[in-house]
Amino acid sequence: MTKKRIAIFASGSGSNAEKIAEYFKNHPTIEVSLILSNNPQAGVIARARKFQIPVVLFDRKTFYETDKITELLQNQHIDVVVLAGFMMLIPDEMVKAFPQKMVNIHPALLPKYGGKGMYGHFVHEAVVAAKETESGITIHYVNERYDEGAIIFQTSCPVVSADTPEDVAQKVQVLEHKHYPEVIEKTLNNLTSS
Ligand code: GRF
Repeated sequence: MTKKRIAIFASGSGSNAEKIAEYFKNHPTIEVSLILSNNPQAGVIARARKFQIPVVLFDRKTFYETDKITELLQNQHIDVVVLAGFMMLIPDEMVKAFPQKMVNIHPALLPKYGGKGMYGHFVHEAVVAAKETESGITIHYVNERYDEGAIIFQTSCPVVSADTPEDVAQKVQVLEHKHYPEVIEKTLNNLTSS
């Protein structure tokens, strides 16, 4: 039986990509087949090498002005596209090519603290500034707008008044690493059975 194939897009450190690669390393039916990045300096590249996962680097022009990346995903028989700290808006054509087959993780409880410019430390700073008593993660399908696709999974962590944005970031990252691989697995299994 051929395994279901995941492609991960990441622009930065890639700690989530690594957790996902680790989770599916010896998985009987699912594999991480490809890691793609727009950033040749991204930490995710070294992490991919560790798992011997092929890396594809591309530039902005290729991503937005050609269909090459969508075609590559199709030629590689990718079943699900996973965004893990990918900083570019996905072009319409690519979203359409993977209906309900592209997921993203956001480090807050959407619809709060989402949208353009709400990424990384900006999210956690806003959460602390608003004196929120909780934050968390949202895993959602991707559509043509930042952070607006249907929500698949959310879970929260407490935020206390002494927490700095870095403290919140740390709590949220623990949730991301724990849940993202499992939610991807479930999403793929639902695809198979439907
Ligand atoms: C994560 O917080 C994720 O929620 C966000 O970008 C960050 C990526 O971190 N979309 P890493 O590169 O996986 O360490």
